[in-house]
Amino acid sequence: MNFWGKVIIITGASSGIGKELALSLSKEKCKLVLIARRIEILNELKQEIENNGSELLAIKCDVSDKEQVKYSVESVIKKFNQIDGAILNSGVSYKQSFSNFDSTIAEKTFAVNYFGIVNFLNELLPIFKKQRSGFIAGITSLADARGFPVSGFYCSSKAAVTSLLESLKAEYKPFNVNIINIHPGFVKTPMTDKNDFPMPFLMDTKEACKIILKGLKKNKGIIKFPWQMTFLTGLLKRIPDSWFQYIADKRMSVRKK
Ligand SMILES: NC(=O)c1ccc[n+]([C@@H]2O[C@H](COP(=O)([O-])OP(=O)(O)OC[C@H]3O[C@@H](n4cnc5c(N)ncnc54)[C@H](OP(=O)(O)O)[C@@H]3O)[C@@H](O)[C@H]2O)c1
Repeated sequence: MNFWGKVIIITGASSGIGKELALSLSKEKCKLVLIARRIEILNELKQEIENNGSELLAIKCDVSDKEQVKYSVESVIKKFNQIDGAILNSGVSYKQSFSNFDSTIAEKTFAVNYFGIVNFLNELLPIFKKQRSGFIAGITSLADARGFPVSGFYCSSKAAVTSLLESLKAEYKPFNVNIINIHPGFVKTPMTDKNDFPMPFLMDTKEACKIILKGLKKNKGIIKFPWQMTFLTGLLKRIPDSWFQYIADKRMSVRKK
């Protein structure tokens, strides 16, 4: 895939992976639509993006709000008269405490990580189906592999996204719409800066975005990285459930100390 002249939406472009993707993609001379709630940060990127040869439309939008997402997509069509692709990257990760179940954290997590993607699919799929082209890349996570202790809401929100996009992939292939699941391992961003546990094979944001863009250019259906975490989580997925439970129990006893 060539990004030249293409209209590409990136959600969650005010920080971390989304921001770096926006800056990297801007070198490809495309029309970038950057979406987040902190519009002031998106506007700060304007100069750099234009210097790199791309156009910018910055939109303030809470992706968990269906109406705001509808309005955002309408604004893109109004400005550029087309949409070629979307990288649905907005995401949240809240700290969960041991044995203190709080459903409001689940609601807040799914509102962004799952419904933030569903709301865009609702607007973009009919457009892409009609024009018989387009790509939608959802940033899920290698954390979708299993229900890791103390990350249940995050893991299940990502597993839900993975499963949804996987099912849509086959449905939309006949319409020449490519639906892509992107599964990063740990990447150094403001989201992971808050973590107080070891993050094996933590990657630099630039390196992570290079892999994502390379995968998109090659029209890959699934992008997973780094290979070490892909291997480990793949293994965890395949071991018997009782073995996984043993590892999870051990991990919990270490964390409680
Ligand atoms: N970092 C990692 O190790 C890692 C690993 C696997 C997957 N991921 C996934 O990668 C994606 C990006 O994560 P990151 O690490 O770059 O995190 P980050 O630096 O915290 O960035 C999160 C982005 O999501 C946006 N966002 C949050 N709530 C939103 C809402 N209601 N509406 C619109 N935008 C919203 C934020 O923008 P505003 O606050 O301005 O709205 C921000 O731009 C997430 O989906 C995350 O789950 C990250």
